[in-house]
Amino acid sequence: MRFVVFTLFPEMLAPLRESILQRAQEAGLIEIRLVNFRDYALSKHKNVDDEPYGGGAGMLLKPEPLFAAVRALPESPGASGRRIVLLSPQGRVFSQRVAVELSCYEELVFLCGHYEGFDERIRALADEEVSLGDFVLTGGELAAAAMIDAIARLVPGVLGQSASLQEESYAAGVLEYPQYTRPEDFGGRQVPEVLLSGHHARIARWRRKESLRRTFLRRPDLWERLVFTAEDYSVLEELAGEIPALGEWRDRWRDLAPRPKTRKKKNSSGGRGEPGRTSGHWP
Ligand SMILES: C[S@@+](CC[C@H](N)C(=O)[O-])C[C@H]1O[C@@H](n2cnc3c(N)ncnc32)[C@H](O)[C@@H]1O
Repeated sequence: MRFVVFTLFPEMLAPLRESILQRAQEAGLIEIRLVNFRDYALSKHKNVDDEPYGGGAGMLLKPEPLFAAVRALPESPGASGRRIVLLSPQGRVFSQRVAVELSCYEELVFLCGHYEGFDERIRALADEEVSLGDFVLTGGELAAAAMIDAIARLVPGVLGQSASLQEESYAAGVLEYPQYTRPEDFGGRQVPEVLLSGHHARIARWRRKESLRRTFLRRPDLWERLVFTAEDYSVLEELAGEIPALGEWRDRWRDLAPRPKTRKKKNSSGGRGEPGRTSGHWP
């Protein structure tokens, strides 16, 4: 996957040359090209910004250099291969879901604004505008770096164990469970006993429970959208016993209660009684 960043300050993207992303570039899994669009400025002094018409504070990026820089891109790798993203606090807000969506493109081109912003006509260059969050940065560079980091780690091979992608926060709409490493006892703070048990089913159940607990306590917005499975029933009932406020949401999982098993009826035709629902409950 290729990332192209149009920026006036390429050094602000230096973190992309470190650690996991550096190794991924060396391995040829991703490519990151930084293009200083000042090189495309037409004037003798390479001006890229100017005062806003109608007055007002700050300077705006002029359209000509960015248009020239984008037009100089080599042919698109295919109809759905390239996506041009304008970094803007007015765009749709970046999230793990947006990262997954953008990771499907072969090439992502980021246009970084700076100063007071950009001439409105620059918007026409982009397929979409994306914001890092509801705050204003001095430029799009740090937003582009954060987005590239989140997207690149979804590219197959960039992370060693892809299983970790499925279990981490947001992957399944919940926050990740608490994690521990050695030592078992750190100043009296113990690793939960279940994690030392080697009992995979108990560990999986504990992790699911703690994920749900964290999501309820920290992210009510995620909690409201969660869809529970039959396997969650007993975990949710346990949590409701521990956190009364969580019990107020019982209507959301009441229907998942295991049905009492019906006895097999012995009748002359040798038929069976109605089977109980076969939901896999946590062991
Ligand atoms: C100071 S900001 C301009 C803000 C602009 N005057 C406005 O109110 O929308 C300069 C540039 O930083 C980038 N930027 C600022 N905040 C951002 C955010 N939350 N997400 C993505 N890019 C951002 C954009 O490229 C923007 O053009």
